[in-house]
Amino acid sequence: MCGIVGFTGRQQAAPILLDGLEKLEYRGYDSAGIAVAQEGAAGYGGAARGAQSGSRQTAGAARPEAQGERPEGSGAGSTEPSIEIVKAKGRLKVLREMTDDGRSVPGTCGIGHTRWATHGEPSVVNSHPHYAKNKRVAVVHNGIIENYQEIRDRLTKEGFSFLSETDTESVAHLLDKYYAGNPIEAISKVMFRVRGSYALGILFADRPGEIYAVRKDSPLIVGRSDQGNFIASDVPAILKYTRDVCFIPNLEIVKLTAAEIHFYNVDQEEVEETFSAINWDTEAAEKGGFAHFMLKEIYEQPKAVRDTVSPRISEGHVNLEELGMSREELAKVSRIQMVACGSAYHVCMTAKYMVEQTARVPVDVDLASEFRYRNPVMEKDTLVVVVSQSGETADSLAALREAKKLGYRVLGIVNVVGSSIAREADSVFYTWAGPEISVATTKAYSTQLAAVYLLAIGLGRAKGVIGEAAEKEMTAELLRLPEKIERILEEKERIQWFANKFSHSKDIFFIGRGLDYASSLEGSLKLKEISYIHSEAYAAGELKHGTISLIEDGILVVGVATQKSLFEKLISNMVEVKSRGAYVLGVTSYGNYSMEDVANYTIYVPKTMECFAASLTVVPLQLLAYYVALGKGLDVDKPRNLAKSVTVE
Ligand code: AGP
Repeated sequence: MCGIVGFTGRQQAAPILLDGLEKLEYRGYDSAGIAVAQEGAAGYGGAARGAQSGSRQTAGAARPEAQGERPEGSGAGSTEPSIEIVKAKGRLKVLREMTDDGRSVPGTCGIGHTRWATHGEPSVVNSHPHYAKNKRVAVVHNGIIENYQEIRDRLTKEGFSFLSETDTESVAHLLDKYYAGNPIEAISKVMFRVRGSYALGILFADRPGEIYAVRKDSPLIVGRSDQGNFIASDVPAILKYTRDVCFIPNLEIVKLTAAEIHFYNVDQEEVEETFSAINWDTEAAEKGGFAHFMLKEIYEQPKAVRDTVSPRISEGHVNLEELGMSREELAKVSRIQMVACGSAYHVCMTAKYMVEQTARVPVDVDLASEFRYRNPVMEKDTLVVVVSQSGETADSLAALREAKKLGYRVLGIVNVVGSSIAREADSVFYTWAGPEISVATTKAYSTQLAAVYLLAIGLGRAKGVIGEAAEKEMTAELLRLPEKIERILEEKERIQWFANKFSHSKDIFFIGRGLDYASSLEGSLKLKEISYIHSEAYAAGELKHGTISLIEDGILVVGVATQKSLFEKLISNMVEVKSRGAYVLGVTSYGNYSMEDVANYTIYVPKTMECFAASLTVVPLQLLAYYVALGKGLDVDKPRNLAKSVTVE
């Protein structure tokens, strides 16, 4: 997830762009850049100022030799219209320092970008805007171009040369290839050739004063004011200047000048769109209108899972090339040792059940803080998998280093591109959840589950445990998970109503069997870390070995039951606790209506393949935790004593 902003009007654009990017840093903050149209005769005010972590150049008539140098002949006094681009690695303040808060970049029309890396680690050359060499087109992008590699390969054969590792640069070259003076036509042609999600802000150097934008599945809005017109990924970027916005419909192209805004469909026909008044305050706007980042991120799960899964599935097959492991190497994996902390550890617990069923590879799971000190004994062909959202968790990083010291291959499943675990693992499989702000993980957790499913299917195929038909059935179901998560989110009021009844509980227990036990662990952690209510999760078969002595009248026990072969056993465990006074909430798949014979209240999730059930049952458990904590009036996004990334032991 990245942040885009654009402005064309009667004021200097760069300071406005930087203001907007600052409000979008929650969408990504590993690097930033701006591109501002230079009218040409007005000359070029900026002196080339390279900085360790930044670069400044003009993409114009002359060809910049690389993104980071300023070409000769297009500097001060240039008569040709051109585009000045300034980019910097690190937080936005680096870019601010490079441009004197934008004051040193002349021009009244520009675009800007703050990055959350997905393809290519954080660096100046990978930061946006990207542009092609032989035409003057600058692009900023939010989303994922799934077929960027084939586009890149084809354009390379046609003589285009690439500077960055990003998917976005492919779009810049495509636009360049198809631009012959008509921007709308060029953009439309590109739309027919790229797959994936995109919100694009585009400048054409020979059309100073004009911004073009287009979106598919990534958010983009247009704002209008008497100072000029804007594009932005989200409302916060422009709220300071206007509340009069239009949420661009999918697959529409927009042309902005200082005075006009025009919308076009993909067939290049002009269409009319309506504007609406935004009445959010700035803080609410940063959360997209949600009360908390946690709720916003719960609602981002369908997109996060889709972004993580669909680029790795083509024609029903899982593509694990990014692991850098051949099919033979995957087939040789004799055991998997998974290591993580907190919620990521619960992903590993789920993986144990799912991977062993799908690939028949034994999976051991360890807390990173234990693994790092237990001098583990592992088979030669063990693959160590470290799961971490932040990629900076001290215990997980130490466990990775311990495994590598012992000579084992390490795969990192990580959300933050270029993080320590990502860099030090032998292979990395990125989840594309985007930045996760709330301390309690939700969307990152869901994308980690999705990553594990893909790994299991790829392993199962490499080992010949599952055939092509099974693979296609599983990948098809994986691609349906986002819409099933959306259906659960439609039920949030029911969950909120139930949660309010238990906001003042003292103890809440979660029970499950098989991978439902792993989901119970996650439900319990979500609840306790943001509501401060004591909670424990138990393998339901364990109750009779002690815990059941804690069950008293009115204590809430949440039973998770999606595994057919274990359903009846879980039901009897729920009867056991209910007969001792517990109030029982059942979480199960539609169709298991016998749950209502024992549960006081039941929440259903859509049916799915049992091995994917954790991706669905976790959603009501997240919402339960959220609404219980909300009912207690707690700071849901920043719970006491906790940090988003535990970078100390
Ligand atoms: C989850 O809600 C918690 N915030 C915490 O358990 C977290 O999962 C754990 O600290 C691991 O973090 P990581 O995924 O960044 O390594």
